[in-house]
Amino acid sequence: MSKTGAEESLTWEELREMGPRERAREFEVYGRLFHVLLAQQFDRALLDELGVQATRIRHIAKSKAGMDFLRSQLSHKTAMLYFTQPSSRTFLSFHSACQMLGMKTVEVRDTATSSEIKGETQEDSIRTFSSFADVVIMRTAVGGLAEKMAWMLSHTERPIPIINAGSGKDQHPTQALLDVYTLQRSFEKRGGIDNKTVLFVGDLARGRTVRSLAQLLTNYRGVRQLFVAPPQLQIGADILELLDAAGVQYELGDDFEAMLPRADAIYMTRIQDEWDQQAGESRQLDLARYNFGVRHLKLMLPHAVLMHPLPRRQEIATEVDGDSRAVYWRQVRNGMWVRAALLARIFNCCGPIREFHGA
Ligand code: CP
Repeated sequence: MSKTGAEESLTWEELREMGPRERAREFEVYGRLFHVLLAQQFDRALLDELGVQATRIRHIAKSKAGMDFLRSQLSHKTAMLYFTQPSSRTFLSFHSACQMLGMKTVEVRDTATSSEIKGETQEDSIRTFSSFADVVIMRTAVGGLAEKMAWMLSHTERPIPIINAGSGKDQHPTQALLDVYTLQRSFEKRGGIDNKTVLFVGDLARGRTVRSLAQLLTNYRGVRQLFVAPPQLQIGADILELLDAAGVQYELGDDFEAMLPRADAIYMTRIQDEWDQQAGESRQLDLARYNFGVRHLKLMLPHAVLMHPLPRRQEIATEVDGDSRAVYWRQVRNGMWVRAALLARIFNCCGPIREFHGA
């Protein structure tokens, strides 16, 4: 591929100064999905398509014949899993999705085991990976790094796709995709995601999953977004600007129990104290007010769903797990189906999967 988008003609500094929607456009390659970096790259049509494809893969994978077929789709491809920040679900679901489609995987999970420990830059590391892999799936503590690496690779002879599997405090687009897929499935018989009210709870300032999902939900008609957090950890002004620009109705508050009965979906999150400026800063907050206990089940609408990107601490009592409205363990598994659908889309094997009739 000789052209990897208009970013070829922009310097990184010029690209970085643009808004997320403009940056998303710059990362298009011939008008199709290549890099996956920002939630802003996804519109309603693409979200619908990924949901249908994820379901199709889920059904095909039930049989041995189906799994054999899926494994034949991308058996000529290799994925590099470059996870320098801890992960259980995202790493394992991408790994499983790659295997399901027959891709080989290689990985670096600790820079102490790569030549970064000898002073190699991340740019040179990623460029090295691109010599051996057809896609780099990366998680990093550095916000914007996945975008920078995608821009950098686009100026090389081997411009392979970069998938952002969580970057700093800014974005986690593939988590938002699995969250949307979970909502699509949960509200399949209730008119879909349109006109639903989604309540976000917890650390909304530093939670990248919330930031990406709030953005993806702007693709749906009439979705109201409620944000409940300690005032210090409320959702960022940049997200509210995006919601304003999209004409989304939203409310901010700190009274969880007052907002809970209005929500069709409740999205709990962990306090991200790894980002504390001073040790123990988050412990000063009265976090118990933002926890979901057994008594809150009575305040939930009968059809509502309780979500969490996980990992959790005390945000949701384990006694709640048995309630049929608790869907966070379903989210985990949905991550594998959606990520397989995403890889199939990037590597252009959606057609054969759509036409497979042997399951
Ligand atoms: N939700 C999520 O990103 O989980 P992991 O950190 O375990 O990947």
